[in-house]
Amino acid sequence: MSDTSTPFLTDVKVLRDRARQHLEEGVVTRSYEGDAAKTIEILQSVLATELVCVLRYTMHSISASGISSEGVKKEFAEHAREEQEHMMSVAERINQLGGKPNFNPDGLATRAASQYAEGRDLVDMIRENLIAERIAVDHYRELIRYFGDHDPATRTMIEGILRVEEEHANDMHDLLVAHEGRPSLAH
Ligand SMILES: [Fe+2]
Ligand SMILES: [Fe+2]
Repeated sequence: MSDTSTPFLTDVKVLRDRARQHLEEGVVTRSYEGDAAKTIEILQSVLATELVCVLRYTMHSISASGISSEGVKKEFAEHAREEQEHMMSVAERINQLGGKPNFNPDGLATRAASQYAEGRDLVDMIRENLIAERIAVDHYRELIRYFGDHDPATRTMIEGILRVEEEHANDMHDLLVAHEGRPSLAH
């Protein structure tokens, strides 16, 4: 899956568009009751995003190889654990709102705003994770604005997740610089 011929910037645009899709579908009603179904729908895509992040980081933590990969593998494993905590919080929130968290593997990739990219080598893995983290950070910032004051509980949860995703992005950025000498993303 990592060896697609599509340039990654195009992928990122598609993923960001997908992440935004639910927001643009309608910020129609501001009353919470009216938005519960919408909130659940949005959180299902956040759940899928986190789940894909768990899978990607777990896979990377096991298959990363090469000189100086041990420290990086530990970092990937730690991120996988934190993504799992996010996944659990979001699933709990969906449940609280009366929804059923969607863990169905069918369609998981299309529900998620992040991508399951294997990465060709260690640096490529780090880069894929950095891309995924940046998409998550962008998306969660938008969600925080979206939930605003009409659902402070969901907003606060996303704020907590965002803080960790920002640390993740920072970790991946630092690793990329350490292993490649420069951050190689163009944006
Ligand atoms: Fe996460
Ligand atoms: Fe993350």
